[in-house]
Amino acid sequence: MRILSGIQPSGSLHVGNYFGMMRPAIELQEQGEAFYFIANYHALTSLHNPEELKRYSADVALDFLACGLDPKRAILFRQSDVPEVTELTWLLSTVTPMSLLEKCHSYKDKITRGIAPSHGLFAYPVLMAADILIYQSDVVPVGQDQKQHVEVTRDIALKFNAEFGSVFKLPEPRILDSVAAVPGTDGRKMSKSYGNTIEIFGEEKALHKKIMTIQTDSQPLEAPKTNLETNVARHLLKLLAPEPAFQEMDRKLRAGGTGWGDLKQTLFENYWNYFADARARRTELQKDPSTIDRILREGADRARPVAQNTLARARKAVGL
Ligand code: ADP
Ligand code: TRP
Repeated sequence: MRILSGIQPSGSLHVGNYFGMMRPAIELQEQGEAFYFIANYHALTSLHNPEELKRYSADVALDFLACGLDPKRAILFRQSDVPEVTELTWLLSTVTPMSLLEKCHSYKDKITRGIAPSHGLFAYPVLMAADILIYQSDVVPVGQDQKQHVEVTRDIALKFNAEFGSVFKLPEPRILDSVAAVPGTDGRKMSKSYGNTIEIFGEEKALHKKIMTIQTDSQPLEAPKTNLETNVARHLLKLLAPEPAFQEMDRKLRAGGTGWGDLKQTLFENYWNYFADARARRTELQKDPSTIDRILREGADRARPVAQNTLARARKAVGL
């Protein structure tokens, strides 16, 4: 089984990225041949700052490795180190109906959030289809917001295969219900572009402060708490705390006399603990940036022949 996913280096990675995509991807590395890449061509649709693009790309690699990606099992590489994907994007573009792209939510969402409406932003699902199809991927672990793009990928593959003969495998999205959309500090989906994120790594004080600003309702401290199902801090505690610690806090909230401040403090402690090992690994890895460079280069060396093979078949199929 080939597993593939990508993550854009457009900012610091957060708890939503971790539970929605990184942790499932890391777990899946045991079950097949995993290809994970840093989607720097994609990031150019929203980030036009060469220094930041480089820094975020290195950080994504560092974060992913610190969180448990094992470069001996999984192939980790930079998207742009396999430029064949851009040629495949063009071939796929010529069979992609405009109506398919016009249906995609992400373009409209991103424009609403203030990203400039470029052709690249509009056509981005075709690049994503090429990412997935060029590696003949079976399974694509992503958060809920990427489901539509995997469906578009399947439609494009079907269309290409029907017109030119069977070149591409049809991929399946892998979306875990429990973490499909992790909420951010304001209750909306956690996302870099909403400014409501809790980063995986960062400075302790600043992260404590962020967690303490998580929005809550105005039930007084003494009150037995209700509406817990929609409480963001409790939702995050369920993800980050061991089950008994979560149950204990839940019981205290329902009994009354425990306030949202206590809940958020407990959340912070569990969050800080949850990523303690990863933080230590990150500090180690950071000491030697050449290791990360080597891992990415070796990753590209392993990924590229697979991409070249698929591209050669696609070129032949269309008559190039
Ligand atoms: P962002 O919305 O912060 O820009 P990305 O779009 O770069 O995040 O997402 C990278 C990966 O993380 C994708 O697979 C996406 O589905 C997943 N992801 C992002 N935010 C969340 C979230 N809040 N809950 C679950 N998964 C998420
Ligand atoms: N579009 C994805 C995102 O914004 C990142 C991505 C690019 C991706 N290519 C991919 C994810 C291929 C899975 C498979 O999060």
